[in-house]
Amino acid sequence: MFSKIRETGLGYSLQILFNRVVPCRLFRCRRFLILELPEPPQTASRPLPDLVYRWAETAEEFQQAQQLSGVNKLPSDSQVRLAIAVKNQQVIGVIWTAAEVFPESELGLHYEMRPGNFWFFSTCVHQDHRRRGVYRNLFAFTANQLRIEIPTSRFWLAINPDNQRSMQAHLAMRVRPAARAFSIRVTRMAKARTTPYENYQLKLLRKGTWNCWKNPLRVKIP
Ligand SMILES: CC(C)(COP(=O)(O)OP(=O)(O)OC[C@H]1O[C@@H](n2cnc3c(N)ncnc32)[C@H](O)[C@@H]1OP(=O)(O)O)[C@@H](O)C(=O)NCCC(=O)NCCS
Repeated sequence: MFSKIRETGLGYSLQILFNRVVPCRLFRCRRFLILELPEPPQTASRPLPDLVYRWAETAEEFQQAQQLSGVNKLPSDSQVRLAIAVKNQQVIGVIWTAAEVFPESELGLHYEMRPGNFWFFSTCVHQDHRRRGVYRNLFAFTANQLRIEIPTSRFWLAINPDNQRSMQAHLAMRVRPAARAFSIRVTRMAKARTTPYENYQLKLLRKGTWNCWKNPLRVKIP
């Protein structure tokens, strides 16, 4: 357990524990970074045998992916696609993508992107297969496929800077920080703050809302 905490980071482990104890409908609070992935990463030099990267097709694959990444409910107002890494018919890696809008319901936030842009969320690799390049390859597959369809696509995601594994993995893929943000929600009241980094015209349209279920806070992604 201690090695797991050391790898994940104490701050992030405490946040996970807190989120397990406090019901989601009641309270959520998070600081996070909004990142852009400018170019699909290079594929890893040590590919795992019998591993396939592709779009999910069957209900069984969606179910396995939801279990692995802890996604209970898919956003209804976004067009969602699922990229998976599959080994022996088991989904071992997951990247969910949403086109143009992504509702971060836990925080009462709504990300609005330009046409052709994608939000990546709930990304995960099964713990028995980590540090073997699965994520890097899955990211490369997903971004390259989307760029084939729409060559001007841009890719965005939010990560918790206390999640050390995630930070390391995304830094290795040369992501660019677009903004740092803080968000808090108590039942239906939500407040947020975003501080864009230079060259990013990212805008939070309102700083607070009394009812984020009806009127979520909108973040305009450039
Ligand atoms: C983050 C996560 C997806 C990375 O998946 P992965 O398949 O292990 O990542 P990769 O093997 O492709 O790593 C690519 C590079 O990222 C870096 N990296 C990844 N995990 C790392 C870790 N735990 N410590 C240090 N560097 C790490 C390394 O530079 C690695 O390249 P290398 O192995 O050649 O040195 C995985 O740890 C995970 O599922 N974590 C739990 C869920 C999560 O935090 N998701 C992110 C939410 S935004």
